[in-house]
Amino acid sequence: MTNDAQQSWWKGAVLYQIYPRSFQDTSSNGIGDLAGITSRLSYIRELGVDAIWISPFFTSPMKDFGYDVSDYRDVDPLFGTLDDFKILVEEAHKNGLKVLIDQVLSHTSDQHPWFAESRQNKTNPKADWYVWVDPEEDGTPPNNWLSVFGGSSWQWDTRRCQYYLHNYLKEQPDLNFHNPEVVQAQLDNVQFWLDLGVDGFRLDTAPYYYHDKQLRSNPAKHQGTDIKPYQMQQHIYDIARPEAVEFFQKLRLLMDQYPETTLLGEVDGGDRTLQLMSDYTSGDDRMHMAYSFELLSDHHSPDYISTVLSKYTAVLDKGWVCWSLGNHDTIRSMTRWGADIEDKENFAKLLLLMSGTLKGSVCLYQGEELGLPEADVAFEDLQDPYGIDFWPEYKGRDGCRTPMVWDARQPYGGFSITDPWLPIDPHHIPLAADNQERHEDSTLKFYQNFLAWRKTQQILKTGEISNIEATDSVLSYRRTDENSAYLIYLNFSEQEQQITLPSKHVACLYSNQRMPEIHPDSTATLAPLQGFIATISE
Ligand code: BGC
Repeated sequence: MTNDAQQSWWKGAVLYQIYPRSFQDTSSNGIGDLAGITSRLSYIRELGVDAIWISPFFTSPMKDFGYDVSDYRDVDPLFGTLDDFKILVEEAHKNGLKVLIDQVLSHTSDQHPWFAESRQNKTNPKADWYVWVDPEEDGTPPNNWLSVFGGSSWQWDTRRCQYYLHNYLKEQPDLNFHNPEVVQAQLDNVQFWLDLGVDGFRLDTAPYYYHDKQLRSNPAKHQGTDIKPYQMQQHIYDIARPEAVEFFQKLRLLMDQYPETTLLGEVDGGDRTLQLMSDYTSGDDRMHMAYSFELLSDHHSPDYISTVLSKYTAVLDKGWVCWSLGNHDTIRSMTRWGADIEDKENFAKLLLLMSGTLKGSVCLYQGEELGLPEADVAFEDLQDPYGIDFWPEYKGRDGCRTPMVWDARQPYGGFSITDPWLPIDPHHIPLAADNQERHEDSTLKFYQNFLAWRKTQQILKTGEISNIEATDSVLSYRRTDENSAYLIYLNFSEQEQQITLPSKHVACLYSNQRMPEIHPDSTATLAPLQGFIATISE
């Protein structure tokens, strides 16, 4: 196999995102851990995914639940030890699963020794490792930049009598990537994990690494007020600066020393996201894949999705996207898109038929394969600082972070033997994995069967996408390669829909329901929420 072919396992791969706090607790502290993930590897293998992506498990004061790292090279005791991680990687590989881990390079925890040193004074060796600025004459910060989590992104530090930049919590100071020592230190940290055998990284907040050196204020978006003031600016100076590409090139050079590894960048840059995704992934000298937010939106009409797909096809022809319908930051798709749908199972299956047939790779989020809805978390149980601050208009991210449900008959759904860090929603219990394993037509079984079939369909991994069309109810597109053409029809409505096929010689390949009958005039009737994949048989 050529080097190129070896490195392309990620093209069209299915990744499974694990939020370790909520996957499986083996230490009985109510918090999931690395040994818990290892104990569930056979479940993940049976699901039929190619890789796992594990959200942060590094040493952290947990202000942002691990996205505030205080030691890049160690495991937080809550999750286990470095040895547990080594075992996890070894066992995952034995199970044929690649392992991606998060890398939160843009900011550290304020408890990181680098920040402790940096904030001492203006002359220490790490004085310039973070973004420090003097106040204006009137004591205010130098510009209008805002934190994603609310308020100014500048925090006053009384020791240095300066402000420091934090794009997220004030406990997550931003590193100064304009300083080459910072760049090198982060590359060294990444290399540490490559040497431990990981297969790739999900790069947290990839457009946030660099800020405008001149600290220019962002222009307003002029689109009225929003519950999140962050949305009221055009983020052209605080983030997504052009220098980022150079950093990705350096990172890629490092990655290329470790064959078959991959970089999946989280790319959310407001209106410029698509262009950034193209800039960051076009060519084989930068990141491999960009994680898209478009299907994490509240919109989900066939028309919206077809517009997104067409835009992506046009702009991203040389890059690579990774789609996702859910993650640890977003309301679960079964609630975001499916709250009013009665036939939940067929809707969950329809969504997989879509994400599994788009051009790109796909990330599934733990629990998606069970069709879990967003959990209802009471204000007094909230953990997420973002949710606590914006409650009740925005309830934060706890509703998608509640523990996995493994066994309907065990206390806490088999997640733990003690009260978990977030409560388990009683509506999740009947959907537990063991219940679904027993029913051939469950959502979980459908995931297993479809993903096993998909593994054998190269066209769905790397084929082109074309003929993207939408009616009020039906989204359709084609995947093609030199040998064949697959037609995909997805009925998002709860009514039957008539479709007209491009030929009467069409062979049905896969559906979430009984295969539709194709009439002599090349029309077919899709059942409510039916998705179906066919091929032209001539
Ligand atoms: C992660 C969030 C986190 C933020 C800051 C995001 O993109 O997915 O969970 O709060 O980065 O690190």
